[in-house]
Amino acid sequence: MTNATGSKLLGDSVDRVDGPLKVTGGAPYPSDVTFPGLVHAVLVQSTIAAGTISRISTEAAQTAPGVLAVITHENAPALAEGPTTPLGPSPRFPFKDNRILHYGQHVAIVVARTPEQATAAARLVRIDYEETAPVLGIDNPRAPVSRNPWGLEVDRGAVAAALASAEVTYDETFSTAAETNNPLGPFATVASWEGERLSVHESTQWPMMVRRSLATVFGVPEDNVRVLVPYLGGGFGAGLRTSPHTILTALAARIVGQPVKLVLTRPQMFTSVGHRPQTTQRLRLGATRDGRLVAIDHEGTSTVGTEEANFGTLTMVTPLMYACPNVATHDRQVQLNIPNPGAMRAPGKAEGNFAIESALDELSYGLAMDPVELRLRNYAEVQPQSGLPWSSKALRECYATGAQRFGWARRNPEIRSMREGRWLIGYGMAGVTFGWYQAPCRARISIGRDGAAHVRSAATDIGTGTYTVATQLAAELLGLGLGHVHVEIGDSDLPPAPQSGGSGLAASLSGAIHDAAGHLLEAFLDVVADDDQSPLQGRKPGDVAVTDGRIHLLGDPSTGETYSDILARHRLDEMSADGEVNPQAAGTGMAPAGAFAARFAEVRIDEELGLLRVARIVSAIDAGRILNEKLARSQIIGATVMGIGMTMLEETIIDSGTGRIANATFGDYLIPVNADVPDLDVVFTGHPDEFSPVGVKGLGEVGIVGVSAAIANAVYHATGRRIRSLPITIDQLLARGA
Ligand code: MOS
Repeated sequence: MTNATGSKLLGDSVDRVDGPLKVTGGAPYPSDVTFPGLVHAVLVQSTIAAGTISRISTEAAQTAPGVLAVITHENAPALAEGPTTPLGPSPRFPFKDNRILHYGQHVAIVVARTPEQATAAARLVRIDYEETAPVLGIDNPRAPVSRNPWGLEVDRGAVAAALASAEVTYDETFSTAAETNNPLGPFATVASWEGERLSVHESTQWPMMVRRSLATVFGVPEDNVRVLVPYLGGGFGAGLRTSPHTILTALAARIVGQPVKLVLTRPQMFTSVGHRPQTTQRLRLGATRDGRLVAIDHEGTSTVGTEEANFGTLTMVTPLMYACPNVATHDRQVQLNIPNPGAMRAPGKAEGNFAIESALDELSYGLAMDPVELRLRNYAEVQPQSGLPWSSKALRECYATGAQRFGWARRNPEIRSMREGRWLIGYGMAGVTFGWYQAPCRARISIGRDGAAHVRSAATDIGTGTYTVATQLAAELLGLGLGHVHVEIGDSDLPPAPQSGGSGLAASLSGAIHDAAGHLLEAFLDVVADDDQSPLQGRKPGDVAVTDGRIHLLGDPSTGETYSDILARHRLDEMSADGEVNPQAAGTGMAPAGAFAARFAEVRIDEELGLLRVARIVSAIDAGRILNEKLARSQIIGATVMGIGMTMLEETIIDSGTGRIANATFGDYLIPVNADVPDLDVVFTGHPDEFSPVGVKGLGEVGIVGVSAAIANAVYHATGRRIRSLPITIDQLLARGA
């Protein structure tokens, strides 16, 4: 059979197979779903951040035109606790009692015949609160703090002693602002019950998890729940949990006995589906005078909601980044009366990298050493925590290729030395170690009499190109044209798949497809094993190759027959095979690697006006085998734009007095527009990964990591101002004495 590593179709810049459907409006996103009898729900949210509801008056809303139900904590039935998933416990269910734990908490859901009627009625719900002083602010001494909440802290070697005796030491703090995931598609839920069976069209990155949550909460078997998300208008981590509005919509549908649709408004997206937490970090380094790291001590503090959980740490990758014998990490979460944060593209990793890669830059100036050279001196040839060889690592090539394309050699190492007219010019760089994640996944492939293959899996395409790369891979493995492969995903009734998240889906799904394709070929050869009429009689998978819908002998393409011929002669409509991947590092003798990267940025700064412009960014990425260069490039460009946002613009402002998010609209919350985004150069280095069946490492998130440090380091090179707080704003660039 065709070996994926000798492929032709793989890697090609094939256009998105779902492109025409999307640009013609034919792709059904969750908020597009409609059908006869659908009624509409609107949320009412709290206008205090802490306290209790003393009275909730719903009479006016109940009797408003078109209203079918007004559900609050007072009349909602008790529901079971949601399950704990690999990302932690379920979000707190807001109708459990009368307590308010954050501004914007859902306190009622109003169902009416039309969205307008529901919106009008929602305004008639009157609420009296007993308000208490909210606990706000990451430094608030009243805030409860959980230490090492995920048990992921690392203590390697003897950090305190190494720091105490180091020739050179470094000790600084960093901060990053809260940010909000803003997928273009507002999150929506359409829920309908038929008896004890629930079907939900849902904005999610993980249909299997939503299925489990809803089954648990409503006390029905998992098989009774179907979650559909054939298309999603972006997720960026917002779709990795079953948020309360989803459960409320399903509850509303159960109560009114009709299908119910809820679409979050843009402001509600800021309070309902998570955000990147605010963070502070303290970083201590010890090094020799020739630039060898002897100690890293990394403390990370993030915000979290009261009585909530948010999986993640700022320090997860720190122990893996450099060949340093002594590394300690410390994780803290500060519980505040805020909407619970969640995953947002490269959660923790983007923020942690900003601190480490800024600190190394500072160290490089202190040692008068080129920043790239400093990183090479500390290059982790093996995975530093386990000592095992990496399954792949081309970070050295990333540095070399990135530096060459960027023209790093033109950099004058002195600060404030490069200028063009009134613009100071700065060059900065950062290294990136992303970290590995893959989860078990299954897929099924069928080939029918028409010679077309159907690939099925409960995976999702959140806009990243899953349909396309799955099509390419199956076509390659089965010797079919792209037009003869149909991918069906986004449905929890299909073979179980993990989340589209953690940069893990492409590797997991490609492994499952690879396995299924192998089994399917075996199945076809089994059918003709005793078939005198088949030129493939008695052949084994190793004897054959597949081309143009035919199985034929290796090295003898004329001896063979088509899938269709085999099926027809044996009076079979189709043949199917299942495939599965269950990635387990133990016993493989290698350390599975995620992506690596090097980022190089040029900035221009007008000091008098405090203007900062990114002039260009070069990203050199090792993501193992690239399944589709065009889509991979798009991923990195999109994530780099998000990185520019994180570095220069984005900040979710939570009012320190009321806990209200003060900028929860696209008018007030700044995201990069075209004018903020310069030429973004992307180059892929490296080789297929040894651990992954198809060699894929995943690249959904690596593209954001390192952007902040590269830009901040360039700002320092241009101006001599070291900025350790994101976003980098005009006031920081103008501040005296910086
Ligand atoms: Mo991502 S934050 O794992 O969707």
